[in-house]
Amino acid sequence: MAEKTDYVKKDKPLLKVDNLKVSFFTPAGEVKAVNGISYELHENEIMGIVGESGSGKSVEAYTIMGLLAGSGKVCGGSIEFEGKDLLHLSRKEMSDLQGNEMSIIFQNPMTCLNPVYTIGNQLVEVVRRHDKSISKKEATQRAIDILTEVGINNAEKRIKQYPHELSGGMRQRVMIAMGLICNPKLLIADEPTTALDVTTQEQILQLMKKLQKIHHTAIIFITHNLGVVAEICDSVSVMYAGHIVEQGKIEDIFYHMKHPYTEGLIASMPRIDIVNHERLNPIEGSPVDLLNPPKGCCFAPRCGKCMRICQEQEPPYVKVGENNHISACWLHVLEMKKEAEKNG
Ligand SMILES: Nc1ncnc2c1ncn2[C@@H]1O[C@H](COP(=O)(O)OP(=O)(O)OP(=O)(O)O)[C@@H](O)[C@H]1O
Ligand code: SF4
Ligand SMILES: [Mg+2]
Repeated sequence: MAEKTDYVKKDKPLLKVDNLKVSFFTPAGEVKAVNGISYELHENEIMGIVGESGSGKSVEAYTIMGLLAGSGKVCGGSIEFEGKDLLHLSRKEMSDLQGNEMSIIFQNPMTCLNPVYTIGNQLVEVVRRHDKSISKKEATQRAIDILTEVGINNAEKRIKQYPHELSGGMRQRVMIAMGLICNPKLLIADEPTTALDVTTQEQILQLMKKLQKIHHTAIIFITHNLGVVAEICDSVSVMYAGHIVEQGKIEDIFYHMKHPYTEGLIASMPRIDIVNHERLNPIEGSPVDLLNPPKGCCFAPRCGKCMRICQEQEPPYVKVGENNHISACWLHVLEMKKEAEKNG
């Protein structure tokens, strides 16, 4: 395999998303699926993106991977990966990065694994697509090694099997193997365990944690389950209606959460030891209609603390703690004003 450039410096983020906006232009109008999100991800870091169904988690992930399809368009902002501007790469440059420097694990393996090829063939194909010089024998050995690494016994035999001959947990392990086989610097896992039973889900999370330690991969872990985030992530971005409403280190979000939406999420947090296949919808009221989003704060129609200003103006981000803990809510602005008045 060709050597990868050793770009990563400790002080520079591996991935920098800045004010990213993505819309779908449908016959009914513009759906603002991602509406100005920003964050940085460093080598070795696992960041969770959590939020209820339709909040824009997958659209954001597909946009980073260059997989935005249909009527989806990037309407603003930038994505930098190792200093490269991903939104202005040629198709060839992007395809060289996909699966090699960055890869994605999808929620449902059966939609991504090709039923007519053995899993060995599919893994070998991924390796050879990115490293033309590798022999078939070497690529097959790499496939066996990575399957063993993700906990599949008898990998020499398993590579001859077709996806339908494997259990759900095994197929998800194959997807993880596929995501890791080229040793990417960035792995996006889009709800990789949601369809699995609790025991397998737990095993897969442990496996990802272990592999991350070995390979130093930066991971974006998308889920609707805060219990999963607590178990695996270093930091978390809470998404609502295409916005990141709160962002911070895992302990800050769990023990010092500031945004009313995050408070609602944590209060109804599903536990990992309880079977949870439903989507997160713990807070009263319906999700935002992205065709007609509210004028001010996107959470205003469901927020018990909503004030007049919330319905008129979008709240700014306020630093609400150490370690880049930020939250977008007018309550913080008022608190800051009160504090300033108190201090004269
Ligand atoms: N191809 C599309 N055309 C029009 N709208 C779309 C399209 N794909 C996604 N959207 C809209 O973008 C919004 C964000 O969708 P996305 O799939 O990112 O949500 P999500 O947070 O991943 O939800 P889930 O937890 O259900 O996977 C949704 O409201 C959805 O309706
Ligand atoms: S800005 Fe207002 S409506 Fe929005 S979360 Fe804060 S208090 Fe609630
Ligand atoms: Mg999704």
